[in-house]
Amino acid sequence: MNTIDKYKLEGKIAIITGGAGLLGVKHAEVIAEAKGIPILWDIDLESAQIKSQEISDKYGTTCLGMGIDITETKFVKNGLKDVLDSFQRVDILINNAANDPKVNEDSNLSLSRFENFQHSVWQQDIDVGLTGAYLCCQVIGTYMSQQNTGGVILNIASDLGIIAPDQRIYRREKLDEDKQPVKPITYSVIKHGLIGMTKYLATYWADKNVRVNTISPGGIFTNQPQDFVKKLTSLIPMGRMARVDEYKAAVLFLISDASSYMTGANLIVDGGRTCW
Ligand SMILES: NC(=O)c1ccc[n+]([C@@H]2O[C@H](COP(=O)([O-])OP(=O)(O)OC[C@H]3O[C@@H](n4cnc5c(N)ncnc54)[C@H](O)[C@@H]3O)[C@@H](O)[C@H]2O)c1
Repeated sequence: MNTIDKYKLEGKIAIITGGAGLLGVKHAEVIAEAKGIPILWDIDLESAQIKSQEISDKYGTTCLGMGIDITETKFVKNGLKDVLDSFQRVDILINNAANDPKVNEDSNLSLSRFENFQHSVWQQDIDVGLTGAYLCCQVIGTYMSQQNTGGVILNIASDLGIIAPDQRIYRREKLDEDKQPVKPITYSVIKHGLIGMTKYLATYWADKNVRVNTISPGGIFTNQPQDFVKKLTSLIPMGRMARVDEYKAAVLFLISDASSYMTGANLIVDGGRTCW
């Protein structure tokens, strides 16, 4: 096969969890560009439908938006059933959904601190970021492992799945030490956990033609406060945050036959941040 042809996703059915969010839409766009069929699973049905319509219109391809809460097995099972009823197959799963608390926008800043971090918030974050990915792998990955064409799973981790957050970048002036906001512990735990889940399932399904990989993106510039951006970019060798479309090519590589000999890996795309 011609090397460039390996990137094509002609007729492939791809489920993206958290598909209506900032990055979910970008994953869907590159799938559509490669002639695959993206299916946006999001707890926010209205957003999923609006975004999928935009993608269909822009790329002239089928793209579906479905309201699925990935934290419960029954919803994931029903979602897969609907996909199979329509397409009779599923080839790609991108575990992308997460509660991603924007530390800079949080009105109750000190609640992110470990000493104050609520058990209920821990549970909610783990439910979406880790349990949701486990359930989707269990339901959809198991199906893939039993269909003769196999499948591909991509877990979306983060540079913070490799290094600890540098809490100095979230600091606010004139706030007491015990009020200073921090990136919550759940973010680290979930992202490190996804990398572990990737290795576990990659080896578990290696003989079933289901490949499982992780991508670890760095932070995307979305007009965060200048002071924060300055502090963060000083930690990044390339001296800038990512543009929102800069992960598309890496995602396509990992979900297509272009990465056919890759499983259990973690592709770090972070402007060099984790080298420092
Ligand atoms: N944005 C970044 O800078 C960045 C950097 C590195 C990694 N990431 C990771 O990329 C992924 C996507 O991030 P994003 O910035 O697009 O986030 P986002 O908040 O824009 O999107 C997350 C989506 O998940 C959905 N969601 C939440 N709970 C759900 C549930 N129970 N079931 C189904 N869907 C649910 C939300 O409705 C939302 O549309 C996350 O895993 C995030 O940690 C993001």
